[in-house]
Amino acid sequence: MSTPDVAVIGGSGFYTFLEDPEQVDVDTPYGPPSAPVSIGQVGDRTVAFLPRHGADHRYPAHRVPYRANLWALRSLGVRQVLAPCAVGGLRPELGPGSFVVPDQLVDRTSGRLQTYYDTGAVHVSFADPYCERLRGHLLDGLADQQPTDGGAMVVIEGPRFSTRAESRWYADQGWAVVNMTGHPEAVLARELALCYATVALVTDHDAGVDDGAGGHGEAVSMEAVFQVFREHTDTLKSTLATVVGTLGERDCACGSSVDGMTLPFELP
Ligand code: ADE
Repeated sequence: MSTPDVAVIGGSGFYTFLEDPEQVDVDTPYGPPSAPVSIGQVGDRTVAFLPRHGADHRYPAHRVPYRANLWALRSLGVRQVLAPCAVGGLRPELGPGSFVVPDQLVDRTSGRLQTYYDTGAVHVSFADPYCERLRGHLLDGLADQQPTDGGAMVVIEGPRFSTRAESRWYADQGWAVVNMTGHPEAVLARELALCYATVALVTDHDAGVDDGAGGHGEAVSMEAVFQVFREHTDTLKSTLATVVGTLGERDCACGSSVDGMTLPFELP
């Protein structure tokens, strides 16, 4: 099998992607990734797949081995990463089943290991946390679902969901969606000079988005998140399979994100 250039990292309820994959055990300086990496064909393309939470969802968002996951993918040859995730919608119009391709991220996590560079001066630019080229491919691939182009995804530490006050505060900032896994995954991808973009499937209205008349809806539950994600997994998988086929050579700046910096190790 040839080298996988593209990877999909599956979110909650999204544990398989490829038909008849080869399972590769990878070790990294940060320990093993969430699961063996599956490698298989999508059309003419060799693709890697990694379930973010493990094949049996053993890792909650705050315990996902993010550094090992991105390192493992890069060491297998991956340079472009598509990262679907479940999110809560912070706007009335972003209800369950909506798709958003965020263009910004707000980090509200705490205590997560969020860098490979604990020595030296390596400071990547993160003003635009997602690869615009990949975002464009995702938006094109999702055209039938009328995705929302852009918006900020606020990433909370979890594993609990937000209070109504927190949720209202996030919405008042103008942030679009809330989730628990978007950070540090995106910045670690940037630190490894990977292209990375996320596609967010809205599963709930978080703590009950204000209905505009001062009312508060029902708060999110874990069952609702998994139920809605399950209902849309097939759409997500077929979209990603199409998108993977459209990706060309990298002509964006992502591959140069650490150029000119003195790295404490060689990129894998
Ligand atoms: N993932 C899905 N829905 C979420 C929510 N409301 N908050 C945080 N993460 C989520």
